[in-house]
Amino acid sequence: MKILVTGGTGYIGSHTVVELLKDGYEVEILDNLANSKASVVDVIEELTGIKPKFHQVDLLDKEATKKVMQEGGFDAVIHFAGLKAVAESVEQPLRYYENNIIGTLNLLAAMKDAGVKRLVFSSSATVYGDPGKNAYTEDLPTGQNIASPYGKTKYMIEEILKDEAVADPEFEVMLLRYFNPIGAHESGKLGEDPNGRPNNLMPIIMKVAKGEYPELSVYGNDYPTKDGTCVRDYIHVVDLAKGHLAALKNMKPGVKIYNLGSGKGTSVLEMIAAFEKASGEKLPYKIAERRAGDLPEFYAVPTKALEELGWKTELTIEDAMNDTIKYLNNF
Ligand code: NAD
Ligand code: UD1
Repeated sequence: MKILVTGGTGYIGSHTVVELLKDGYEVEILDNLANSKASVVDVIEELTGIKPKFHQVDLLDKEATKKVMQEGGFDAVIHFAGLKAVAESVEQPLRYYENNIIGTLNLLAAMKDAGVKRLVFSSSATVYGDPGKNAYTEDLPTGQNIASPYGKTKYMIEEILKDEAVADPEFEVMLLRYFNPIGAHESGKLGEDPNGRPNNLMPIIMKVAKGEYPELSVYGNDYPTKDGTCVRDYIHVVDLAKGHLAALKNMKPGVKIYNLGSGKGTSVLEMIAAFEKASGEKLPYKIAERRAGDLPEFYAVPTKALEELGWKTELTIEDAMNDTIKYLNNF
């Protein structure tokens, strides 16, 4: 099978490309390098012995996207490309709507033209908004009280894909709702290296560990959780990457939706302790104000992915911390 991976030089995309190549898939990457580096393609080659064809193309360039699709002869597309910085999306909503939604529409138009009928989409647990429970199953309502324009783009794209699957009964779509991806490749050669100031916990922990930031601000310790700090379902990026292979192997006409998470909740203080244990060093932190839009606690109910895709997480927070530290030491 030949797969086009949009956003394939990014954090989750690059780990997925490695797993796809290891499993015998043929892969091409499309990315505009807005949040990644072309050198990732060389790292992928180093890890797999295969250098995937790389198209430096912006999905907002409709004609260039069509050309890649026409020439590629793809069996499926995995669509990671998008902007994902939550705070930035609040400041620049139009840029986020344009990039994520128009980019996806251009991709869909190109797929239609070329007769490509399978799409795996990177969605997020953020589409559940604030559903009033901590354990998320796929049948919870989506779209209500989503905290950011970024999150709304994920919800809107899900709806667009559902509509297209009604219109075209041959269209096969997987909506994969990720929980909180962390960690790096076990080689320490691939990891998360965002351009600009990160928003997410692990990249900030990494910057504090490197001394680039003086300390971590823990956003609130008075939540109704086990230690007062927020609880999330952190998932090792390699487990997440493998979830995409499980999805590809189980595609059928229509829309299928899966949570990709571990089912376990970990607090911010537990994450700090896990990092300290793995690194053997103290991580400076202070308790700060709550961050607007944060929910106290949520985690996946990952049963559907296990039952229908045969997929579950295998790596632990400890593995993720050890791999992150290997990556940190390389860069
Ligand atoms: P990332 O920023 O590392 O990767 C996204 C890639 O898309 C980048 O390489 C970027 O250059 C590329 N891109 C962005 N806009 C593009 C465009 N218009 N044309 C071509 N390429 C473009 O992010 P990631 O963490 O690997 O996330 C991948 C996907 O998963 C994103 O859609 C993200 O929203 C989604 N997701 C991520 C998380 C997370 O916590 N990392 C959680 C849930 C969902
Ligand atoms: C955030 C986004 C969500 C997005 C997800 C993955 C918000 C409100 N939500 O989720 O839409 O899908 O990232 O990209 O931004 N924390 C600190 N200090 C920090 C950073 C984070 O204490 O400097 C805490 C947060 O309060 C949170 C936890 O760490 O409880 C994880 O934060 P983060 O990595 O940003 O993920 P989410 O908040 O789950």
